[in-house]
Amino acid sequence: MLTQAPRGTRDMLPQEAYLWHMLENRMRELAALWGYREIRTPVFEHTELFLRGVGGTTDIVTKEMYTFKDKGDRSITLKPEGTAGAVRAFLEGRLYAEPLPCKVYYLAAPIFRYENPQAGRLREHHQFGMECFGGKEPSVEAELINLLMTLLRSLGLSNLTVHINSIGCRCCRPRFGEALRAYLGDRIHDMCEDCRARFDKNPLRILDCKQEKCKAIVAGAPSILDSLCDDCKAHFERLQGLLTAQGIPFAVDPTIVRGLDYYTRTVFEVIMQTGREGLALCGGGRYDNLVEELGGPDTPAAGFGLGLERILLELKNQGLTPPAPSLTDVYVANIGDECRTDAFVFAQKLRALAVRTESDLCGRSLKAQFKYADKLGAKYVVLVGGEEFARGTVKLRDLNTRQETELPVGEAPEKIATILSGKEAESI
Ligand code: HAM
Repeated sequence: MLTQAPRGTRDMLPQEAYLWHMLENRMRELAALWGYREIRTPVFEHTELFLRGVGGTTDIVTKEMYTFKDKGDRSITLKPEGTAGAVRAFLEGRLYAEPLPCKVYYLAAPIFRYENPQAGRLREHHQFGMECFGGKEPSVEAELINLLMTLLRSLGLSNLTVHINSIGCRCCRPRFGEALRAYLGDRIHDMCEDCRARFDKNPLRILDCKQEKCKAIVAGAPSILDSLCDDCKAHFERLQGLLTAQGIPFAVDPTIVRGLDYYTRTVFEVIMQTGREGLALCGGGRYDNLVEELGGPDTPAAGFGLGLERILLELKNQGLTPPAPSLTDVYVANIGDECRTDAFVFAQKLRALAVRTESDLCGRSLKAQFKYADKLGAKYVVLVGGEEFARGTVKLRDLNTRQETELPVGEAPEKIATILSGKEAESI
């Protein structure tokens, strides 16, 4: 127990950190290119925010939230998704009073859902999310999808499809609800308990049921696309035109309704075409009523969330992870006990010049220090001590060519920094 993390959670171990950093750097770069600014919101919020924001009939709210009473008897919930918190911050921070659209992103935000853990499905995962407040045009979704695909393709992931759908608005969705109820009719009695409860309250949710018997019934249901009002239809067609104009392939998929209640009009998911029961890498859509429903001004909005663990899993499955970088450039070895302090001080001088440097912290022999330098992937070993040091020099050994050069102690750090910066030919 003491040495086992809670089920459904994963450590990010140091040997993996470079992959997370690579993803995060790429996300930051693209967000800046598209004019999105970072937002960080608390890991927990008042439970009420998710009840109102995500929806009382969703699996997330009814089954998956980590909710507890704090010592002040307030009901608190660990974020089960990122959008509701971003909307709350948009309102509390009065960002709506600034020129709109307000474009924000969150990076590696921890998200908690009490799910059945399996590959790609965790109880704590991390999301890169983007939210755009104040844009009613379908160009918002087109921009988000373009950014997303640029990101995924830049990582080498190519066999991806964007699945898009429209789930209508306050005007046309009730019409679809009626059509769906009419189709389900008596069939509802053969469906699961959750679906039966959703029949009156929120029939659209039935389309998202994961139970096989319910999925089979839902397969013959009418398409929501046939119930859209003219405005929703025009919005959806314009989005498709924009995606085509950007050269982004997509599939219209009327079965996508998403697991959160706040969506209006556009919903989308990015799915890997790996042949396996595809876990979505990303999901998002438009939510034009949420800001108002949470007490703010009428503000159209759209966004997406991308699971970092799922991206890493897919990169690993496809052998697309870049090799780990070396851990240091220079190893400063001491030749014996009497020169440990000199070697230690020499290493600090290199670091002061921004040279990645390691020196002995374990009392290793010279031979063991060389072995360790090799393991770290060092390019050079500086030998401090012996006759050379007595003469006022250190020896620099190139671990690739095995070539050795003697450098005056005083000038050596600058010289090594210059070599490593590539400003001087590497052969010296
Ligand atoms: P979501 O589809 O629930 O949407 O989650 C977004 C992404 O998070 C998924 O596509 C997946 O990559 C990852 N994810 C979800 N659950 C898990 C899990 N249990 N384990 C590992 N990864 C997971 C949302 O959360 C919306 N807030 C997205 C959004 C933002 N819509 C508009 N703005």
